[in-house]
Amino acid sequence: MADNKATLKAGDKVVELPILSGTAGHDVIDIRTLGSQGYFTFDPGFMATGSCESSITYIDGAKGILLHRGYSIEDLARDSDYIEVCYMLLHDKTPTTQEYRDFKDTITRHTLVHDQVNNFFRGFRRDAHPMAMLCGTVGAMASFYHDDLDISDPEQRLRSAYRLVAKMPTLVAMCYKYNIGQPFVYPRNDLSYAENFLNMMFSVPAENYKISPVVSRAVDRIFTLHADHEQNASTSTVRLAGSSGANPYACIAAGVASLWGPAHGGANEACLNMLQEIGSVDRIPEFIDRAKDKNDPFRLMGFGHRVYKNFDPRATVMRESCHEVLAELNIDDPLLNVAMELERIALSDPYFAEKKLFPNVDFYSGIILKAIGIPTNMFTCIFALARTVGWVSHWHEMLSQPGQKIGRPRQLYTGEAQRKYNKIEK
Ligand code: CMC
Repeated sequence: MADNKATLKAGDKVVELPILSGTAGHDVIDIRTLGSQGYFTFDPGFMATGSCESSITYIDGAKGILLHRGYSIEDLARDSDYIEVCYMLLHDKTPTTQEYRDFKDTITRHTLVHDQVNNFFRGFRRDAHPMAMLCGTVGAMASFYHDDLDISDPEQRLRSAYRLVAKMPTLVAMCYKYNIGQPFVYPRNDLSYAENFLNMMFSVPAENYKISPVVSRAVDRIFTLHADHEQNASTSTVRLAGSSGANPYACIAAGVASLWGPAHGGANEACLNMLQEIGSVDRIPEFIDRAKDKNDPFRLMGFGHRVYKNFDPRATVMRESCHEVLAELNIDDPLLNVAMELERIALSDPYFAEKKLFPNVDFYSGIILKAIGIPTNMFTCIFALARTVGWVSHWHEMLSQPGQKIGRPRQLYTGEAQRKYNKIEK
């Protein structure tokens, strides 16, 4: 929309800036020429900054809408599966039956990691945090495939994307097995993506693991609901790393690192640790009071979201799965009772209503993962596994766009102005 313009008056300068419209969501003011006029914009935390153009995922935070390639997350979670969602994110269309079969087959046949990857694990302490091992081993994949990668070739980019999506469950399960001292379990091609992951996690040589269809469906849903989420911290990290031309394994390792923090993907682990700390239903009010106290840094983990300000549509679907899994497994865990009661109390508390704080996807996914026997310190790895397809789709999209520039923000400098240096002896 060339004649749609914003006018900025700054000092004695008047600058006209084009307003660009997407297919949905806020219009954006194109400020790219502002630097040459002597101004930068200032937006730490990216509260109102569009960092790129993208056609992968759309979020309307006020209405609680999440669309992947235009399809609603509710429809996808109900009627699709993770493999189809991966195809859509990477290829910008739904697959035909044959394309779905071929894609599934390709992913299945790339699940094995090079046997030398086993050696990397031996370098870690046996109690290393699984996210630390995941960061390291994903980055180390670059050492196997770096020479096989021309990132300007879309076919080669997709090949790396398939490798990453396929091998991530294998690496995540290896992190777990290494922690608990059990032998690594090789992937099995006769199982679905979620079943194969569960089998690599829980199977032991002496005994076959029986996979519950309710559990594998819930895990597939967790993967689907975490597959992508627009320009969040880790995706933006992957894009920024990729903008320099870095190889995809290094970029995804950067994404894993960014996801680790408790304000982002680390929230599911932090949430369960918080439930542990609360310990019993009668202590919930004390923690609710702490969350409201401005002088206490404590926050209710698994509550709130930067973009969703009414509800998190992923949490609505996840909540449904959560109750399904708890009923199927017939679990009586005091921690899960604390979670359910915390959800009830927080949802009826005016403070949380006023600040638009509600349980997010990580609150419920953490409860499901705990119920199916996945240890808390593995939760963020599972988020990383599921988000890999989103990261790599954004990386692929970015490199497909002509005129792509290295990401290089500027700053508001508040240090010393230039001053004279005196030699140390003076
Ligand atoms: N518990 C208590 N108070 C909170 C919480 C919380 N979880 N989250 C926000 N607030 C309050 C905060 O104190 C502030 O109050 P005031 O206006 O009086 O200063 C107000 O709500 C706004 O908070 P903010 O930090 O400015 O909001 P933000 O949009 O920058 O932060 C968030 C979003 C997700 C980082 C934050 O809500 C939070 O720390 N939540 C807990 C961590 C969490 O569950 N993260 C997972 C997000 S979903 C998965 C993902 O996408 O990674």
